[in-house]
Amino acid sequence: MFSKKKEISQIDKQQLELIQNAQRRIKQKKRLYIHFVIFLIGSVFLILANLVFGIGKDVTPFGINWFVYAIFIWLFLLLYHTFNVFITHKFMGKDWEQKQLDKLISKQQERIDQLKEKAHNTQAEEMESENTSEVKKKAELTIIVAAGENNAIGKDNTLIWHLSDDLKRFKTLTYGHHIIMGRKTFESFQKPLPNRTHVVITRQNNYQVPKDVIIVNSLEEAIKITQNDTQPFIIGGGEIYKQAIVLANKIELTRVHETFEADTFFPKIDTAIWKETNKSFHHKDDNHDHDFSFVTYLKNNPSI
Ligand SMILES: NC(=O)c1ccc[n+]([C@@H]2O[C@H](COP(=O)([O-])OP(=O)(O)OC[C@H]3O[C@@H](n4cnc5c(N)ncnc54)[C@H](OP(=O)(O)O)[C@@H]3O)[C@@H](O)[C@H]2O)c1
Repeated sequence: MFSKKKEISQIDKQQLELIQNAQRRIKQKKRLYIHFVIFLIGSVFLILANLVFGIGKDVTPFGINWFVYAIFIWLFLLLYHTFNVFITHKFMGKDWEQKQLDKLISKQQERIDQLKEKAHNTQAEEMESENTSEVKKKAELTIIVAAGENNAIGKDNTLIWHLSDDLKRFKTLTYGHHIIMGRKTFESFQKPLPNRTHVVITRQNNYQVPKDVIIVNSLEEAIKITQNDTQPFIIGGGEIYKQAIVLANKIELTRVHETFEADTFFPKIDTAIWKETNKSFHHKDDNHDHDFSFVTYLKNNPSI
């Protein structure tokens, strides 16, 4: 029912266009005819003016009367008018204009589609690069630890040594970042460290902590929470280091050049996996009871 109505209106539109076109053509031809008649009358008038009434009878360029030139020029204009009516307007009329317009519109549409596709691709690339930087961010998950030559890191839930430069370095590196730690390490602090977000891992459900300290139930959860941090740190202790060493991509180690009696140890650093990229040695002095080195390791292949 509805489609029939549509067809009828389509026919009406086409018929209307045909009628309008026919009317236009009639008007054009009528104007040409009038022009032709005026030309004939005008030409006779020009001949009479020159030959009978003697107007400009002395004007004879190249020995020819001026009216001949005037009639030829007019004839040329008349021919041009005829050409327009029968050639230009016939083949380059409204239909032709419409076709050109349609062509132009379809070309513009093509360009718009191309631009849209380009914008879409750029957006996809941006998203991809965002994802890549996310991976990079994960690649900066850093273990920070101080260990003796035998990898000793603690005894009776405390550190075995006091090295002020090591504490300063710890503060500088971790300042403003998330620090991830096991419940026992957290308990070894007298109070939370300033200007760092503490993420404490425990299996306990009701573990009570001061305000602003985050509690999680696994290392994976801790890493997830810190995903907006450019460089979250794993700060110990022994249990957490063991689990984190497979996930981290950087180790900031303070190697204390002595063997210590301990109950907690750092896992052995496998040099097939970890590459030493930086090392600086420090002699013992009044403030430091032991020689020590700051050593940076990067994981050879972040996927390992
Ligand atoms: N030298 C250094 O650089 C350094 C740095 C940090 C610490 N330390 C030393 O390390 C010692 C502490 O280390 P630690 O190995 O005894 O303890 P820790 O790693 O600090 O904490 C162990 C606790 O973390 C929780 N935990 C561990 N893995 C978990 C998991 N997968 N899911 C949920 N919770 C988990 C458990 O808490 P719950 O029992 O509450 O469930 C576990 O008892 C201390 O002596 C400390 O001084 C040394």
